[in-house]
Amino acid sequence: MQKILPDNNPTDLNAWKSLQKHFQKINKTTLKDHFKNEPNRLDYTILKWEDFYVDFSKNRLDKKGFDLLIQLAEESGLKETIDAQFSGEKINVTENRAVLHTALRTLKKEPLIFEGENILPLLADTQQKMNTFCDKVISGIWKGYTGKSITHIVNIGIGGSDLGPAMVVEALEYYKNHLAVSFISNVEGDHHQEIIKNLDPETTLFVIVSKTFTTQETLSNANSIRAWFLNQAPKDAVAKHFVAVSTNTKETAAFGISAENTFPMNDWVGGRFSLWSTVGLSISLAIGPKQFSQLLEGAGKMDAHFQETPFDKNIPVILALISIWYNNFWNAESEAIIPYTQYLRKLPAYLQQGIMESNGKSVGRDGNRVNHQTGTLIWGASGTNAQHAFFQLIHQGTKLIPADFIGFKKALHRNKDHQDKLLANFIAQTEALMNGKTLSQVKGELDASGMSSEEQNKIAPFKVFEGNKPTNTLLIDSLSPSSLGALIALYEHKIFVQGILWNIYSYDQWGVELGKQLANVVLEDIKENTNHPHDDSTNALLKHITN
Ligand code: F6P
Repeated sequence: MQKILPDNNPTDLNAWKSLQKHFQKINKTTLKDHFKNEPNRLDYTILKWEDFYVDFSKNRLDKKGFDLLIQLAEESGLKETIDAQFSGEKINVTENRAVLHTALRTLKKEPLIFEGENILPLLADTQQKMNTFCDKVISGIWKGYTGKSITHIVNIGIGGSDLGPAMVVEALEYYKNHLAVSFISNVEGDHHQEIIKNLDPETTLFVIVSKTFTTQETLSNANSIRAWFLNQAPKDAVAKHFVAVSTNTKETAAFGISAENTFPMNDWVGGRFSLWSTVGLSISLAIGPKQFSQLLEGAGKMDAHFQETPFDKNIPVILALISIWYNNFWNAESEAIIPYTQYLRKLPAYLQQGIMESNGKSVGRDGNRVNHQTGTLIWGASGTNAQHAFFQLIHQGTKLIPADFIGFKKALHRNKDHQDKLLANFIAQTEALMNGKTLSQVKGELDASGMSSEEQNKIAPFKVFEGNKPTNTLLIDSLSPSSLGALIALYEHKIFVQGILWNIYSYDQWGVELGKQLANVVLEDIKENTNHPHDDSTNALLKHITN
């Protein structure tokens, strides 16, 4: 394997060692103390970029710690690796691929040479093919086999071929046109049955999305749905109702989809980073090519920010470093993502794939097991719903859970009363998490309610909030295709920075292969009654379901 990325065990770097010492020094300092100790704390902890206001002041970190984290990024060679990624070097070493999803949204005009060829004109051609197709479907010019226009789009895909498009289509509901869009991902037959039972084959367009076109779930669903379709429509109708997105044009042709109806993608776009490519076809169908290009543009601006901004003002770099600080020095196991809008309720699930499939690795770039923690567990839900579900644990549980609060200054439907309440909760939660409530405050409140001091002493401990819980606040002017593009790109770059610093390869996903392989073996045992060797527990399970 070629050595394209540096091989730096982070724990050997000077900054890491200094951070360990610094951690010992400040790990008893509370967030409130940091504010007292640093009168100018907001000077370095608030960043304003485009329509983003990022406040990372509520973290267990002081200026010295912050500077050491920046030093860590520098010592790890991050700058060079960012350049390597954007210029198309094959930094996905274990798959021998470049990582160029950023090329799909670049705002730069100069040629991007990859394997001797400027790829930008080729990408523009594909984009044009996609736009023309979407315009025809949206305007109703594209007709189904009985001459009716399309009213319903069904995206058939899984993982990156589902989560990104599904999350964005839902997030941009406000900007959507008349086309209904559904997503079928799970191999479970009930999933697609529930969706197709309400579909009219005459007016439905199926978009089969699979980078490899070998994924069991997607092909099973596509085959079953084609059979359902052909029960009602003639064979030549398939061309009007099925299109494919894939790198594997041989397999799309074998499935019966013409080259004309196939939207190619490149192998240097990873599945979980692919919504910017033709994988975003259902997004573009839902919001139209113009707004799809605004999504790309927002991401392109974040790319430029990431590439060009010094690390101490660089939003993705800073958020990545803060996350490393908690993961590797405070031993925090997870991070919560709380978008304060229902539109973004799928964001946590989307980022789970992005972050955990990328950085859930234990082998370093030197080929040995790492001696430090890597990928964090990601979870979350939309606020304020989450406040009434799991916030109890964040406020008063025993675990340290750093959280990203993502909010929007303006509501799309301009309902001021609701928006005021939403933002009040958004801000109050991070304040409460930081400041908590002391025993004397609790007793003061109980006193005012007229409770006896004996009763107060019994109940007060349960009402104390330790506080000191860290959060990042990402406040964006409003949810638009462009700001959403920038937000997603921000997290993509955060993933990259963390992978580089943890000395792992973020762009492969070998960890999902074993389960796929074994599922094929088990399937044979279930369907063909074969008896492959398994452990006792697996044998018993198989016996239980086949009897
Ligand atoms: O199983 C993991 C994975 O390979 C993801 O990385 C990918 O997004 C998903 O499966 C779907 O793959 P494909 O687009 O090739 O069907």
